[in-house]
Amino acid sequence: MSQTHNYDVIIVGGGGAGLMAALYASQNAKTAVVSKLYPIRSHTGAAQGGIGAALGNIEEDHWEWHAYDTVKGSDYLGDQDAIEFMCEQAVQSVYDLEHFGLPFSRTPEGRITQRPFGGHTNNKTGKSVHRSCYAADRTGHMILQTLFQQCVKNDTQFYNEFHVMDLILQDGKTAGVVALELATGEIHVFHAKAVIFATGGHGRIWDITSNAYAYTGDGAAVLARRGIPMEDMEFFQFHPTGIIKLGILITEAVRGEGGVLINGKGERFMERYAPNIKDLASRDVVSRALYLEVKAGNGIDGKNYVYLDARPDVINKYAALDGRTRPDGSPYRVTADEITSKIPDITDFCRTYLGVDPVKDPMPVQPTAHYAMGGIPTNKFGEVLMDENGTIVPGLYAAGECACVSVHGANRLGTNSLVDLVVFGKHAGIKAAEYAKGVDYPVLPEDTIAFTQEQIDRLRNGSGKENPAKIGQEMRTVMMDHVGVFRTEEGLALAVEKVKELRQRYSEVRTQDASTIYNMELLNTWELGNMLDLALVTAESALARKESRGAHAREDFPNRNDQDWMKHTFAWLEDEKVRLGYKPVTVTQFEPKERKY
Ligand code: FUM
Repeated sequence: MSQTHNYDVIIVGGGGAGLMAALYASQNAKTAVVSKLYPIRSHTGAAQGGIGAALGNIEEDHWEWHAYDTVKGSDYLGDQDAIEFMCEQAVQSVYDLEHFGLPFSRTPEGRITQRPFGGHTNNKTGKSVHRSCYAADRTGHMILQTLFQQCVKNDTQFYNEFHVMDLILQDGKTAGVVALELATGEIHVFHAKAVIFATGGHGRIWDITSNAYAYTGDGAAVLARRGIPMEDMEFFQFHPTGIIKLGILITEAVRGEGGVLINGKGERFMERYAPNIKDLASRDVVSRALYLEVKAGNGIDGKNYVYLDARPDVINKYAALDGRTRPDGSPYRVTADEITSKIPDITDFCRTYLGVDPVKDPMPVQPTAHYAMGGIPTNKFGEVLMDENGTIVPGLYAAGECACVSVHGANRLGTNSLVDLVVFGKHAGIKAAEYAKGVDYPVLPEDTIAFTQEQIDRLRNGSGKENPAKIGQEMRTVMMDHVGVFRTEEGLALAVEKVKELRQRYSEVRTQDASTIYNMELLNTWELGNMLDLALVTAESALARKESRGAHAREDFPNRNDQDWMKHTFAWLEDEKVRLGYKPVTVTQFEPKERKY
């Protein structure tokens, strides 16, 4: 038994990209959002430090500089046409958010204020530039609230706590999705002309992560099972400053405001790794530096973490040494109150989880799995590509972290995730509505819900020989140990074999809770299957890439190899195997060069 709903456009996911898509699609098409969470609980809410746009409100800046920094940050794997599009559009998108009511932090004159962030530079001097537009350290939270309110105002339909478990394709065209309603256990068919996936990332496949529990890669896995390739999955970003053991994000804005990384010898070690912009180098560079310091025995008390120091006297000391000034030319000095007002949530997290007050004590940090550069391949209009030649799947779109446009290439710059979801969410929404206007409702196949039912039955009726919690822990451990900041052939091969074994064992799990109402055990076990599928694609893609680029650092292939590897990976999940293909990077104006920060 199932219920059927008909919409022109269905958006799967209620985070920033999904809500932005909904806002624009619903202006021209009958639209609904289907989300496994209540939308304002989405992971966009965890984005802290800001959204990058070259407004130039504090100092000279240009969207072209933003584009160059993004290309360089991507280690020359980002597609430059898409990057130029995103950075140019970012400026208007921030003003759109302002007009939607987003409460940005302000300059004394009342303009949107901006702060420095990793890898964002003045292209003439190579120094950090104020480009990140922010609302204290709650920027993502404010984006979610603002967009949700706009959607409610515009009567967007929401199906909250519905887990989309399958994509319906008919004769190669999109015909809708199938979802399980958490409250009832009922299956719903969302019959649609166009579907936009905006389901976020999959950072929960690593043990230490900044990602929400919901970040299990559901949308990408659903599509991978329907034959859609995954692009550049080997590139997964580790943010350098997660709270030790917990992985909770401590925003890069702390360093933007002047905080510094200090090792166990009391050294500001980033001076050695990035002499020009030091603590504000791109994240891949900082995470590797942190890892190498720990490996060299320079962690705090010889342990596996360092300090992020944001005490005002420390900030002021290093600002003076760096010759940092305010925009009016006066020396840069901060007080405890200024720091606390600019990063209130971080202050709160540290007090709550560590018993540490950031304006009085340094914060213990380690790299935390943070962001998927790879995902569902799309062009800049969100249209999903089914192969390396750019063939489009009619009616299928993706935006936000689950998608790979590719604007982040091998390493995303901080603040560009919010730019990505706002710009590409909007364009996917516009494009999907346009497409839906021009086509009739596709005919639904006879067995629309068969695969969803089969997935549920398998979990309910498995042999029960295996324990999903144990499989999940083993997956997270092997991914952390061997598909982390640094990688080797041996470690990656071991990870591939281990994940294959875990997938086998997963076929022997059985859920214990037989109820239909709010059966979280069933859905969490299904999510584990999604993570295992994406873990395999990630490890296989990483094993194949025999170079170091951005977030993919191979100890056995330490150099970037543009000759052989300046290309995107396309990976198809085919039962037990992953088939790989490659696609050239689009270069418009920035020829690859060695990255120096
Ligand atoms: O550090 C941060 O505030 C994270 C921002 C981002 O991932 O873009």
